[in-house]
Amino acid sequence: MEKDPVVEKVREIYGQVVESFNPIRSPELMVKALRDRYKLLVKNNIVYLTIAAFMNNKPVLYEGPPGTGKTEVGEAILSLWAGKKAFVLPCSESYDEYRVIGDFHPLIAMSKGFNEESFIPRPLLAALILNAGVLIDDIRRSSEEFQNMLLDIIDKRRIIIPELKRVYKQEGTGFQVIFTSNPEDIAQRELSDAFLRRVIRIKFNYPDPEEEEEIVRLRLGEDYELIPKEYISRALSVVQYLRKKALYKPGTSDTVSWLALSIKIAKGRELNRVNARDIVEAGEAVLVKNPEDEEVVREAVEKHFKE
Ligand SMILES: Nc1ncnc2c1ncn2[C@@H]1O[C@H](COP(=O)(O)OP(=O)(O)OP(=O)(O)O)[C@@H](O)[C@H]1O
Ligand SMILES: [Mg+2]
Repeated sequence: MEKDPVVEKVREIYGQVVESFNPIRSPELMVKALRDRYKLLVKNNIVYLTIAAFMNNKPVLYEGPPGTGKTEVGEAILSLWAGKKAFVLPCSESYDEYRVIGDFHPLIAMSKGFNEESFIPRPLLAALILNAGVLIDDIRRSSEEFQNMLLDIIDKRRIIIPELKRVYKQEGTGFQVIFTSNPEDIAQRELSDAFLRRVIRIKFNYPDPEEEEEIVRLRLGEDYELIPKEYISRALSVVQYLRKKALYKPGTSDTVSWLALSIKIAKGRELNRVNARDIVEAGEAVLVKNPEDEEVVREAVEKHFKE
């Protein structure tokens, strides 16, 4: 069979970043691999639902507040499912098919025309050709036109490039799609009914305190032992309180960054244990993302960590 120059280009450009390993398709093994290989504590139902959707070739939408692991979990599940690293497309207003499917090099196109030679394949096409997963991050930031274009590709499982008179079809089951979205971000647009009808929606939420403690332990590794246990539970109370009272609601990612930073501060002071002062300083640096929250953060942190 004649070699397709676009496929060759994709292999050449993206093949090196998409290293392959054994795919994992069983939910139990997936939960374990997420924990062991990616340090992610993921609820069984999230994994079961996602895998069920993939088995039906359906795209998945992860919705939930900031810092609850949507992006990292999505990327990890897609990678484990396909047995190769997933592609991540961080959406913005200006995203269009040229940014995700392919583009023509202007100078080469001028001299050689709009053909395989001047064509530059982009990640969505590369994922389809390489049979890898795609995480489409923060879908609400993109235009409705872009969303419709994606849905058409995902429905039909193929990409058409009119200039090249070519159609690329999904081969294999690795090409799956996860969208992420944060519905509480008022700056972002609503998703259309057409969009919502086609995706399997999975809700992410803040973990309960035991799970959050487990996540902190998983993420901090050996350093976890440097923080007195009592301080960890106080820190968890602070973030829970702020999720109710502050404008910026700290996610699990903020809890982890807060405690990780307090360890760095303690190490910088050559202490072998984190003390309350380190935690207070780190807290004020990490938890205030909105100037109006300064007061409520300071009060909450100081109240919980006064010595
Ligand atoms: N279930 C989890 N297991 C392990 N770490 C987690 C988990 N949830 C959140 N984290 C922490 O949060 C970070 C990942 O957050 P991520 O960026 O994926 O969240 P997000 O929901 O995509 O946030 P945003 O809405 O801001 O994009 C991890 O690096 C880790 O520190
Ligand atoms: Mg994200």
